[in-house]
Amino acid sequence: MAEKFERIAVYPGTFDPFTNGHLSLVRRGLGIFDRVIVAVAQDSGKNPLFSLDERVQMIREVFRGQGRVEVEGFSGLLVDYVCQKGLNTVLRGMRAVSDFEYEFQMALMNRKLKPSIHTVFMMTDYRWLYISSTIIKDVARLGGSIGSFVPEAILGQINERMDEYRSRLNGQQ
Ligand code: COA
Repeated sequence: MAEKFERIAVYPGTFDPFTNGHLSLVRRGLGIFDRVIVAVAQDSGKNPLFSLDERVQMIREVFRGQGRVEVEGFSGLLVDYVCQKGLNTVLRGMRAVSDFEYEFQMALMNRKLKPSIHTVFMMTDYRWLYISSTIIKDVARLGGSIGSFVPEAILGQINERMDEYRSRLNGQQ
């Protein structure tokens, strides 16, 4: 009998913080892959509010008890990380036409760096087309409610960090 072949996708991002849009994409990914590895990037050219360890820990909390999802941090090139794991598929979400150019550029660069790597795109659920980690942080910083945009399991931790941020800001005034 043939050995069972597992289809595994790596879903990379900065996830600062992880949102319901990312969650919805992982869920969709699980519809076509046996397992999804959420790969939290150290090197994404951004200056994250949450440390790499915090981001990994928060996303693990979101998927606690869900054996088909793993969460790991990585540094360096995405293609190197994927190859080191013996995998060849990257999962990416596409929110709108505006995402296309950047995604296209990244997929082609990754393919040029490692031709064996494939990028699979899935549409983000229409409910989350307009959100990004930055816009959610902006709303929270200014005291808006973000409860409907981020997973329940990490809402408290995000709000706590925003409260600290606001107190620091008030202290400076
Ligand atoms: N729902 C809601 N928001 C979403 C989303 C979804 N399904 N998908 C993406 N977003 C948001 C993200 O939160 C992010 O918001 P932000 O810009 O405010 O932080 C924004 O859309 C862009 O997301 P994405 O395109 O996934 O960027 P990223 O910074 O999260 O991830 C990496 C980029 C980590 C994949 C890329 O930098 C990388 O591979 N780094 C490793 C180093 C490397 O290999 N570099 C060369 C790449 S060619």
